[in-house]
Formats: sequence, C-alpha cells, structure tokens
Amino acid sequence: MRYKGIIFDLDGVICSTDAYHCQAWKAFADRLGIYFDRNINNRLRGISRMASLEIVLEKSDKAYTDEEKQAFAAEKNGLYRQLLGNMSAADLSDEVRDTLHALRARGIKLAVGSSSKNTPYILERIGLGNFFDAVSDGNGITRSKPDPEVFIKAAQMLDLEQAACLVVEDARAGVEAAVNGGFDAAAIGDAKDDERARWHLRRFSDLIEIVK
Ligand code: BG6
Ligand code: MG
Repeated sequence: MRYKGIIFDLDGVICSTDAYHCQAWKAFADRLGIYFDRNINNRLRGISRMASLEIVLEKSDKAYTDEEKQAFAAEKNGLYRQLLGNMSAADLSDEVRDTLHALRARGIKLAVGSSSKNTPYILERIGLGNFFDAVSDGNGITRSKPDPEVFIKAAQMLDLEQAACLVVEDARAGVEAAVNGGFDAAAIGDAKDDERARWHLRRFSDLIEIVK
C-alpha cells in the first residue's frame, strides 16, 4: 500500500463549505463597501480567519484598529455559522461518503487537517462527528497553512510518518503546506493544476485508484 494514512482538508474537499466562506466574506465586504471577487476569495482558501480578513481589507482605503478587526472577524464568522446551521448529513455527497468508507475498508487511517476553528461543528452537522481517526484543526495550531503544522499534528495523531501520509487539498496554500511538511499532496478543485502536488484529482473518488 502506497499510503498508510490520508489527511483531508475540510472546506472544499470533504464538503462545499468553501462556498459558504465565500458568501459570508462577500456579505461582509458588501456591508463595508469593499470590493470582493472570486480571485480574492481563492486567496483565502486554507488560511486562517484573521489572515483572510487582512486580505479582504487590502481593498479598503481605511485603516482599522485591532479591536475593529476582531469585531469584523466575529461578524464574518457569525454570517458563516448561520449558513453552517442549515447543513445536515445531506450535505455530504454520496461520492465523498462512499470513497471515505472504501479507503477505510482498505485499512487506511483517515484524518482531517483543516485551518478552520469550525471543524468540529461542521463534522457534526454533516454526520462525520465520530468518523475520522484524528482531527487536527484551527483550534490546535499556532501557524496556519502554508505552514505544515496542522498536517504534522494530524500525522502524529495517526502515529504515522509524514512520508506515509497523503494530504488532499483544494487550496494552493494547503498544497504548499503539505510539501513543506514532507507529505505527498493530492490537489483537487481550485488547486487541481498546482504543480507541487504529486496527484491531480478530477474527482474525489480518484483517490481509490491512487491508493491501489
Ligand atoms: C479554511 C478555509 O479551511 O479555514 C479558509 O479554507 C478559512 O478560507 C479557514 O479562512 C478558517 O476558517 P474558520 O472557520 O476558522 O473561520
Ligand atoms: Mg480547503
């Protein structure tokens, strides 16, 4: 077996919460009259809430205090949590669910490696609250992607060497983090053409072929 463990990014890989991040940032930016588009949104993939805010505020000509920035981050998170509140097990696609079960049936350990502090809540909503062998997320790290900390912690929780784990990512910052940490990366979605990734997934279920 090529990999003993797989570490999945959450937003945009396991579920489509990346679209909710985008919607929440857009609503926030609109309220402040700040320009926001898809390219800016794609730069937010994989990076922490506060780092994302700094990127969104690049288009503002105003300077904000740290206190205001904390309030902005909380505002965006409130909008995002409202969207998350409508999620259910129906928001986990059959393809992702079936692939996860097929990978587990092959004896591969499965973990989440996400920058999001909302990871436990999202996993609960989509019915994967107790599914993964390890969950490493934004609540347990001090440095966000492209730093490899979140993936290194996940590998440690799985009791596996980095070289034995594959990281699945939709963020360029996440592919970079994986490579920085000595992991192979499988890129999907927005990051699918990232040349630093060893594998390029057209669909999530392509993972089954990769681990054969
Ligand atoms: C990542 C997203 O998974 O989590 C980023 O790709 C987001 O866009 C980051 O900023 C932090 O998420 P949260 O839920 O803690 O605000
Ligand atoms: Mg992602």
